[in-house]
Amino acid sequence: MTFALSAEQESKFQEILARYPNKMAACIPALHLCQEANENWVSEEVIAFVASRLELSTAHVTGVATFYHLFNREKPGKHQVWVCHTLSCALRGADTVLKHCEKRLGIHVGETTKDGKITLRTAECLASCGSAPMMQVDKVYHENLTLADVDRILDGLQKD
Ligand code: FES
Repeated sequence: MTFALSAEQESKFQEILARYPNKMAACIPALHLCQEANENWVSEEVIAFVASRLELSTAHVTGVATFYHLFNREKPGKHQVWVCHTLSCALRGADTVLKHCEKRLGIHVGETTKDGKITLRTAECLASCGSAPMMQVDKVYHENLTLADVDRILDGLQKD
């Protein structure tokens, strides 16, 4: 299926192009916009679209999309849970939080629940070290996590 942007998304694409000195420099924000427009994943059609619009090779755009872990190369669940496991969070219980998420959801890191609602991932430092342990759910940070907080958050996602 061919990928295309809506009129509103195209306007945002133009805003991105205007912010950068050349098209290559706009590759990451363009991929973010297109990923969001494509149910949160970067398909081959998205790669081809971005490459064409930015006058880059598909190999270049694929390289960018595969280097940064915030780009999904497969369709994720409706919600994405990113548990930070870098030093500050690790020292304050990230591993316990992660194991709790795996047990509650019945999946391992990198997997999506059978109902397609939640994809569980780990993240490197999300720049919220002072409020460790923390996790990002879609675009929202949840900080100073307790296991009760994790239960409440996952319950909410499962009911959505
Ligand atoms: S180590 Fe987790 S936010 Fe920095």
